[in-house]
Amino acid sequence: MAKTKRNILKNILKKSSIVCLTAYTAPMAKLIDEFADIILVGDSLGPVLYGFKSTREVNLDMMIQHAKSVVKNTRKSFVVVDMPFGSYQKSKYDALRNARKIISETGAMAVKIEGGKKFAKTIDFLIQNKIKVMGHLGLLPQSLRGKPKVYGKTLIERNQLLEDIYYLKEAGIFSLVIECTTKSLVDEAVQKFDLPIIGIGASEKCRGQIIVTEDILGMTNFKSKFLKKYLNFFPFAKKALRKFSDDVKKGKYPNRKQCY
Ligand code: KIV
Repeated sequence: MAKTKRNILKNILKKSSIVCLTAYTAPMAKLIDEFADIILVGDSLGPVLYGFKSTREVNLDMMIQHAKSVVKNTRKSFVVVDMPFGSYQKSKYDALRNARKIISETGAMAVKIEGGKKFAKTIDFLIQNKIKVMGHLGLLPQSLRGKPKVYGKTLIERNQLLEDIYYLKEAGIFSLVIECTTKSLVDEAVQKFDLPIIGIGASEKCRGQIIVTEDILGMTNFKSKFLKKYLNFFPFAKKALRKFSDDVKKGKYPNRKQCY
């Protein structure tokens, strides 16, 4: 089993374009499995599913419950689970305990951790203990105060990001998500580092792209320069629900055939 999982990742990382999508539930996992290489059970489930203001409100138990349903309903994709806020900051030992809990209770294949150099030792410790880790730099939703911004506009931010990537790569991450960061900086990072960089609001030169599935299907009101909506879900759903409501009110549903 472990060998199969290793092979799945190896094959994904060989690809020139890696497709990453998020899923938090069984129906979404079933829907996207065919199209995704990597499925992320992101802590974006806080805002997207629960209507939380921030991903900081998401806890370990929530991540585990959602990840279980995603793994159970995924046939071929490599499943990564976000380590939620508070689950890896205390100490490397606490981070390892929580990462092991995620992997053992859900059957997921890797975890994702937000942050750079500050967490490199923790990430290194997890990897030494056979936990696969995906990094996350640029805009870090768990650390966000106020409005989201684009990273990499100043020299300090540029140097900081490049240094952070260096430390995460040295620690052994298998891939890195870079969020909301200037294209010129991301392109430089892609050139400089032999590391699969997955962009969100980054650059088309990244090895892959990740997006919140509900956002591209038009199931949220999220707006951003980087977001392209591939479906406007709400009008279709509303039309169907209006029809159902009318049918119930008119006694048209259920009809004879739909009754036992
Ligand atoms: O939580 C999440 O869904 C994420 C992606 C947007 C990268 O971290």
